[in-house]
Amino acid sequence: MLSDRRILLIIGGGIAAYKSLLLIRLLRGAGAAVTPVLTAAAEHFVTPLSVAALANEKVHTALFDLTAEAEMGHIELSRSADLIVVAPATADLMAKMATGRADDLASTLLLATDTPVLLAPAMNVRMWQHPATQRNLQILRADGIRLVGPDDGQMACGEFGPGRLAEPEAIFAAIQFALTPGPLTGKHILVTSGPTHEPIDPVRYIANRSSGAQGTAIAAALRDLGAKVTFITGPASVPPPDGVQIQRVETAAQMLAAVQAALPADAAIFAAAVADWRVANASGSKMKKDGSGQAPALQFAENPDILATISKGDRRPTLVIGFAAETDEVIAHARAKRTRKGCDWIVANDVSPATGIMGGRENAVTLITVEMEETWPRMAKDEVARKLALRIAEALTRA
Ligand code: C5P
Repeated sequence: MLSDRRILLIIGGGIAAYKSLLLIRLLRGAGAAVTPVLTAAAEHFVTPLSVAALANEKVHTALFDLTAEAEMGHIELSRSADLIVVAPATADLMAKMATGRADDLASTLLLATDTPVLLAPAMNVRMWQHPATQRNLQILRADGIRLVGPDDGQMACGEFGPGRLAEPEAIFAAIQFALTPGPLTGKHILVTSGPTHEPIDPVRYIANRSSGAQGTAIAAALRDLGAKVTFITGPASVPPPDGVQIQRVETAAQMLAAVQAALPADAAIFAAAVADWRVANASGSKMKKDGSGQAPALQFAENPDILATISKGDRRPTLVIGFAAETDEVIAHARAKRTRKGCDWIVANDVSPATGIMGGRENAVTLITVEMEETWPRMAKDEVARKLALRIAEALTRA
């Protein structure tokens, strides 16, 4: 049930806008209050009268509405809701959001708010697939915006593919999910993920095989338990989750700076496979073969250990968790690593090529804390993430 919850529903101008009427009925039926906002384009598809009748509230349409400003300013309107839902979110609305434009009531509300936002995109398949929309989508994801849909299928324009508005029931379920407080609601958790790239020259770099899959799954699992997640990722091969704040970095030094800038946090999980060394004599211009058969002599410098720096720093999160990817004597090495780095828990795993774990879908881990060691059966990385997130929730609520 959603009684006492207030949803600010922004209806964008698309043929799918009629589905927002069904969404209002579902929300009202569950006891939620719905404050509707229509863009000028939306008024061509649904009438303010039908929206107002179903929501049983005044419909807001204009930015410069003197009566509304006197009753409740647009800033207040955007902040008094528990969740802002944009359905349908058109390509145009997404572009405005991604660039921070505020030239009508809907975009102004979205810029003025610190309330969580859920987008239900709907548009023609070509518009959805256009690089500009995909670019905007990436920006919105990085801003921590949550998404439901779009679905794949037959579209009103006759084309087929991704871009259909999610069904009202699916949007309703996503709203319920976003509004259900989890055990980590109110907690800020930092997750590092992916490899780092250490430049040799402007076109070459040293990297490792980390896909970022485990870190991504952990960030998503923590988000699902209600945490505010800052996700600091190197150039990973899996896409980052939505609903988290994303900071993209390349090198270990940049990752450390991003972690420090994101503090304070209640917990920090260091799942990144940080390069231990960087090239100390990296060249500012592309290195050339000089025909002598002589290979360039690269010199290495040790990278800062992010996990150890944060574990021993003065703004240490309550719970600090490291990973130990080993190929032999996994537990013994991981145990020693926990003490050496000063973290609370270590998640140890065997990354010998035969295990297929590095870059694979599954993981087999042992959780090592001061008090105990627990080996979990081999399971999907998503499952490891959920189990770990629950343990983190237990530890933080005990703390
Ligand atoms: O020493 P090793 O790389 O095996 O330690 C692994 C753990 O330390 C991981 O949690 C990793 O994210 C973290 N780490 C780090 N900074 C480094 C090296 C490793 O945060 N420079």
